[in-house]
Amino acid sequence: MTPNPLVSKDLSSVWHPCMQMKDFEHTPLIPIQKACGVRLYDFDDNAYIDGISSWWVNNLGHSNEQINSAVKAQLDDFAHIMTANFTHLPMINLAEKLVKKCNNNLTKVFFADNGSSAIEAALKMSFQYFKNRGETRELFVAFENSYHGETLGALSVGDVGLYKKTFEKILLKTVITPSPKDKSDEESEAAICALKKTLEQFDGKVSAVIIEPLVQCAGYMRMHSPLFLSRLRQACDDYGVHLILDEIAVGFGRTGSFFAHEQANITPDIMCLSKGITGGYMPLSVVMCKEYIYEAFYTEGVEKAFLHSHSYSGNALGCAAANAVMDIFESEKIIENLTPKIQQISRCLEELQNDKRVKNARQTGMIAAFEIETQAARPSLEIFKEGLKNGIFIRPLGNTVYIMPPLVIGEEDIKTLFGGIQKSIMKV
Ligand SMILES: Cc1ncc(COP(=O)(O)O)c(C=O)c1O
Repeated sequence: MTPNPLVSKDLSSVWHPCMQMKDFEHTPLIPIQKACGVRLYDFDDNAYIDGISSWWVNNLGHSNEQINSAVKAQLDDFAHIMTANFTHLPMINLAEKLVKKCNNNLTKVFFADNGSSAIEAALKMSFQYFKNRGETRELFVAFENSYHGETLGALSVGDVGLYKKTFEKILLKTVITPSPKDKSDEESEAAICALKKTLEQFDGKVSAVIIEPLVQCAGYMRMHSPLFLSRLRQACDDYGVHLILDEIAVGFGRTGSFFAHEQANITPDIMCLSKGITGGYMPLSVVMCKEYIYEAFYTEGVEKAFLHSHSYSGNALGCAAANAVMDIFESEKIIENLTPKIQQISRCLEELQNDKRVKNARQTGMIAAFEIETQAARPSLEIFKEGLKNGIFIRPLGNTVYIMPPLVIGEEDIKTLFGGIQKSIMKV
């Protein structure tokens, strides 16, 4: 097969994210011609099931007609206006829908444009809340093995060495506390005890505790129980610190409920959403907060105002896509229809364990993961390459193999995805 000329053209000018570019000397770079439903198609008409929803964003699959139409219709009016002095219906509608989805517990919606920028805004919002009330609380507490993005503030509250270590010297001061290693009560108990000690030690200095509820995704898909979250909520209340929930990866149905925190029956003080919010159509994120936080900024003069901004805040095309996503969740009963898929994934995961090298299989809703025992030097790359040969696109984290398929994946495609995983791991 002649190599696609787009590859050399790309490599002469594009620097790809989260890649060692030299790997492209022996790893395929695949030009994609179209994407539809759960499949990506290359220029030779090879199809790949998108087993990770293209970095966990295309929760409703690719080329959804309703989202396409919503974005096209908005384009006929306008694509973007700045939202400091102006407003527009798609943004208002989206804010109203999100507030309603949070049962009016989170009442204000601040718009940003990607996950990391939402985290930056959330951290600043929490810090400034206390500052506006006359307190300087310069610490954030974050969990071991957590991931909140790659900008410097977000990286500061993350704890995945692979991304953080190089930049350690230029990051914010953060206290890292142990996270539960699994869903067991013992792990929850140990992590809560450690957290309480930390909050006690730094009493009055901490603005917020930040966590990815239920699943630390980029942190090798480590999972904890809803019980841990409810105890975390209680600890934050006891010590008077904000609880920031980063639902950027787990929101929009990924864990089996619309928001992950619903499973613990708690409300955060601040919540970040992105990724699935536009179904993978446009970069958009929001920071939602409780009314009491908003009120601390609401005074005469600009000094206490939240002067955080992004040029693309509240982008109209993004909001139009997000409104369509919210409508589809309702009209197509996306959450209600997940149960049989979650059960099927659970059965497939169990079958996979016939391979004795599959360790620590685990699942939360539409996320399934396991570690593969292998001597391969770069298991992630090897399994990715094998996956392509088997018509699936997966991108393991080290030797952690996981799936996060579009929520609309059907029974046959779940079978094909797991069949592809089985064949791929056999080869490494
Ligand atoms: C939990 C979580 N928070 C934040 C981010 C950062 O989002 P973005 O890549 O849009 O900056 C990610 C990205 O993977 C994430 O998984």
